[in-house]
Amino acid sequence: MTSAVGSAKTAPADLPSATDSDSLTRSIREKLAMPIHAFVFDLDGVITNTAEYHFRAWKRLAEENRIPFTRADNEALRGVSRRESLRRLLNGRDLTEEQAQDWMARKNSYYQQHLQGLTPADALPGVTAFLAAARSRGLKLAIASASRNARFVLNRLELTQRFDVIGDGHSVSEPKPSPDLFIWVADQLRIAPESAVVFEDAEAGVDAAKLVGCLTVGIGNAKVGHADIHLPDGLKTARVDRILTRLEAVRSNRE
Ligand code: BG6
Ligand code: MG
Repeated sequence: MTSAVGSAKTAPADLPSATDSDSLTRSIREKLAMPIHAFVFDLDGVITNTAEYHFRAWKRLAEENRIPFTRADNEALRGVSRRESLRRLLNGRDLTEEQAQDWMARKNSYYQQHLQGLTPADALPGVTAFLAAARSRGLKLAIASASRNARFVLNRLELTQRFDVIGDGHSVSEPKPSPDLFIWVADQLRIAPESAVVFEDAEAGVDAAKLVGCLTVGIGNAKVGHADIHLPDGLKTARVDRILTRLEAVRSNRE
């Protein structure tokens, strides 16, 4: 799918003629006026608190290797791929590729041990009611997670069937903050990225979604305060109608 960003990049360097500029303005207006067709959710930290398990797994690996690693350090790993997380944890220390693969495999096995205990009760407060309300409004529902464990987590939560599309760490090769996963999910849903609302708890996720024109809802921490809407309490008290109304207002202010 060609994104709005992609087409802007390929525009000729010359200044557009009045007609070109009119049609550009029209195309931007059309995109802004697009109805909202789908809600697209990040998984870790939005649907369930597996972010805590990622932290414990990295912490164990760090302790085994006498690398200082705190809960505050872990905030920089939120939403970031396994490999990039390792790079940030190493903080300049060198590993061979073989060692890096071994460390990532170990972290993943620690993480998967935590996942064995996951049950439907581990969906964050308000999540299942919110998904049901969105579905009854006729919205499509999707997951866009960087995790290769996303399907396993959704199965344990018994939420897999709630989603029309599940994009995970296997779907695209460039992780967030590249927007590729959101483009992939929109493509699978057969909608334009501009008509999707992305729910994210990570800065990298909000940045990626914005790059392709998705509307954004920041969940929890202040690092996602730059989303179109910020819900510090997550989906606990979120109302689908209220979110849609607020996002329509965001859109009309952009026009
Ligand atoms: C993201 C998490 O969803 O997935 C990150 O927020 C994690 O913390 C990334 O590193 C990759 O997950 P996994 O399960 O493939 O190691
Ligand atoms: Mg997340």
